[in-house]
Amino acid sequence: MEHLLPKSTLALRERAREVARKFVLPNAWKYDRLQEYPWEIKQALADAGLMKVWIPKEYGGEGGGVLDLCVVVEELSRCCGGTGVLFAVNALGSFPILIAGTDEQKQKHLPPIATGEKLIAFGLSEKNAGSDAGGIQCRAEPDGEGGYVINGEKKWNTNGPAADLNTIFAVTDPASKSRRLSAFLLEKEMEGYKVGYIEDKMGIRCVPVGELEFNNCRVGTEHLLGGKPGLGFKHAMMTLDRARPGVAAQAMGLAQGALDFALVYATQRQQFGKPISSFQMVQKMLADMATKVEAARALIYSAAKAVDAGATNLTKYAAMCKFYATDVAMEVTTNAVQVFGGYGYMRDYPVEKYMRDAKITQIYEGTNQIQRLVVARNLIKEAAELSDLAEYIPIPEHLR
Ligand code: CAA
Repeated sequence: MEHLLPKSTLALRERAREVARKFVLPNAWKYDRLQEYPWEIKQALADAGLMKVWIPKEYGGEGGGVLDLCVVVEELSRCCGGTGVLFAVNALGSFPILIAGTDEQKQKHLPPIATGEKLIAFGLSEKNAGSDAGGIQCRAEPDGEGGYVINGEKKWNTNGPAADLNTIFAVTDPASKSRRLSAFLLEKEMEGYKVGYIEDKMGIRCVPVGELEFNNCRVGTEHLLGGKPGLGFKHAMMTLDRARPGVAAQAMGLAQGALDFALVYATQRQQFGKPISSFQMVQKMLADMATKVEAARALIYSAAKAVDAGATNLTKYAAMCKFYATDVAMEVTTNAVQVFGGYGYMRDYPVEKYMRDAKITQIYEGTNQIQRLVVARNLIKEAAELSDLAEYIPIPEHLR
């Protein structure tokens, strides 16, 4: 797939691959078992300049786009899916600032994210509002002095327990339908900001996922994203459009990593006096796995390029690559366990972790059911442009 990437992105991919092989792979299973944040790995990513890839140059970043972000996520996830999201979630949390932040907010928050000194997360979901993101209940009420008082909680906040900063969505206008939400940039040392229950997870165990609680958390308008209320839902959706290719890249990296192990194992494992890679049923599995990984990769790169080019239909492409790549990851990682047979099911072998890590990619940043709904809604809108084809469809006039 080299031909699909510009030279600068290929160089970045090499840099990410080197860090992933040197620091991530040898430690991946240790942090999976411990379920602890790998601070040494985060430092290695920061030292290699990877935490600044998507941040504009004027704020201390490399000025890369979503395509650059995706190749880094892919390389990290190929070695550890948890590390892939530990990295990518900083882009998810900081995209709202890039999309809508004031100059002051960008100046204050982006440089320390670029150096890796500060970690950021994204707080949208709540116990009763997962897919129905517009239905959140966390409230930000005017404090009578030009600021807000925030009360409520967030659920499944990936990286939240480790993050210094969190982009949080709250209701500022309960009576409005389309301008109900606003985003706030909250810092962990603020009074009334508390990390609650931390989840015990199936996969991505090196990155903490937890609840956040806000009890009379008072903030000035400098914490309101963009300085204007009412645009929170729109900014959340625009953020997810830009971040979903990253989840797809995490999934595709996991699939590639599991395939790499399955290939090595299949050529070494002997049964009936031959390597199992000589059996046609195993060959069919390997061929299908590799083809689906390549198809996912092509779709992700294409969607990421659409985002970077500011395409008008990026919502559809982001959703397509998210559900396709994550479904491929679940299938490929499950089949990698199958190729390993009984060994594959055991924790002493590498592939079961890939399967566990892959599952969440079908769920977070919008379930794959929601992604299909988003794609279908967009297709139905686009159907209007094809209306001239209707004359070739012989539906009787009285049924039209
Ligand atoms: N870009 C810009 N604006 C958008 C938009 C987009 N992609 N999608 C919708 N909007 C706008 C619409 O134009 C509309 O604006 P008006 O009211 O002005 O017309 C408004 O937003 C409402 O849109 P919808 O009517 O389409 O909203 P809906 O309530 O039907 O919901 C949905 C749409 C697609 C289901 C949305 O709720 C959704 O994406 N849900 C999934 C949420 C999600 O991904 N959550 C994951 C959180 S992140 C995470 O997982 C945490 C983590 O830590 C990794």
